Amino acid sequence: MPQNVYVTRPIFDEAIDVLKKEARVSFNSEERVLSRAELVDRLRDVSGVVALTTDTIDREIMESLPKLRVIANVGVGYNNLDVSAATSLGILLTNTPGVLTETTADFAWALLLSAARRTAEADAFTRAGKFKLLGVQEYLGHEVSGKTLGIVGLGRIGQAVARRAAGFNMKVVYCNSQPGDPNETHDNAMELSFESVLRTSDFISLHVPLNAQTTHLLNDRAFALMKRNAIVINTARGPVIDEKALVRALTNGSIAGAGLDVYEREPDIEPELLTLRNVVLAPHIGSATRETRLLMCMTAADNLIAALKGVRPPNLVNAEAWESRRS
Ligand code: DGY
Repeated sequence: MPQNVYVTRPIFDEAIDVLKKEARVSFNSEERVLSRAELVDRLRDVSGVVALTTDTIDREIMESLPKLRVIANVGVGYNNLDVSAATSLGILLTNTPGVLTETTADFAWALLLSAARRTAEADAFTRAGKFKLLGVQEYLGHEVSGKTLGIVGLGRIGQAVARRAAGFNMKVVYCNSQPGDPNETHDNAMELSFESVLRTSDFISLHVPLNAQTTHLLNDRAFALMKRNAIVINTARGPVIDEKALVRALTNGSIAGAGLDVYEREPDIEPELLTLRNVVLAPHIGSATRETRLLMCMTAADNLIAALKGVRPPNLVNAEAWESRRS
């Protein structure tokens, strides 16, 4: 007898087809985030859910869903899910690592280059019909080649960002939440303390997961350590930066600029950020290419189907839940 599966927001038809081969599938066809009450209501009879990183599924919701066996998140980050609650309840959680690494690294570079060379500002200026004769000292940006790139969190995406720096002849320095982690290294990149990365880098790109240790990692104190010409790039998670402190740093000139794809209270954005010219803003599109988003959805579908078939899913986040999984 096929099991019930729910998909919380529209995804690719190809991924729905994968699910339909093995399960009875229903989905939210509206492009909006379901409320808590709607989630509980729609997930009541399902064994598996394909969730997006915009869905907060906490302990209370999980406890009200005794039939739920697996949550397959579309995304590498899973801070929207309560991992310890899922583990204690025997609910398997999966994510989609690997498939979005290069795409997200490309986008971190897109923001870095855009913030350094003011492409968003220049685009608005040109469209407004203001391009007449530019003075030699107008629209000056920041040199990228030969500068120092600091990577905070040298996991998969951080390493991919570091690889691209070779083409710009940059020096790369990095720090990890667990210093000396043998999985988080890169040839030609030097591991430093967090403070030293902040002090020495011209560009600082964040690639840490969001957790209690990384929330507000960049705060007033951190910005004060940075060079005045530093440009901060965030394609990780918004709350890693204290947005009010960032506004202060950008306004008082303690750093030069920022490129942001993620926000502290997404999709809301600190209003002052919208008024600043030295920040480039994007609407959380780091992984947004057709190829990658399709792969993310297919990976989530494969993870979910594996779990429903009793096979250990390839991207199981809470390995401890495997032994106590619900049947
Ligand atoms: C991720 O994969 O975590 C991206 O942020 C997509 O939401």
